[in-house]
Amino acid sequence: MTDSPEVPAKAEISFTVNGEPKTVRAHPMERLLDVLRQQLRLTGAKEGCGEGECGSCSVLMDGMLVNSCLVPVLQAEGSSVVTIEGLAAGETLHVVQEAFLECGGAQCGICTPGMILAAFHLLNGKTELTTAEIREGLSGNLCRCTGYSQIVEAVAEAARRRTAA
Ligand code: FES
Ligand code: FES
Repeated sequence: MTDSPEVPAKAEISFTVNGEPKTVRAHPMERLLDVLRQQLRLTGAKEGCGEGECGSCSVLMDGMLVNSCLVPVLQAEGSSVVTIEGLAAGETLHVVQEAFLECGGAQCGICTPGMILAAFHLLNGKTELTTAEIREGLSGNLCRCTGYSQIVEAVAEAARRRTAA
């Protein structure tokens, strides 16, 4: 008879989510995506591939765009996580969200939260982006619906609005 493999004990893990301090009890290797969706009820980040290929689970961790399906929650300890729920200011959408809505950058919506966070990350501090830069910057986020043109246009529009603001 063999011993059953040891399951790591749950631990308390603290981090900031959308500016609010949170402490969760989770197995250290639990996926950040699951902790966000199941424990914290932040269901904006979506599971597409579950293998780090599609970007639908993208969130920002300490300002870096990460695939939350690949991040063990222990790695989030002490970090600042931003999900799509943290982008709008109350009822006021972020300029990237507005541009996606107006340019038709969202269709079925599965890729949209991750795509918008990737666009937000890409635009950070930039006043001008070429189409090639936008396509390259969003290359880790896949969309099965839009053909990408409306998404690229939405990001360009968001950049124009930020420059004009
Ligand atoms: S679900 Fe995480 S990259 Fe696809
Ligand atoms: S809008 Fe459907 S996958 Fe992008």
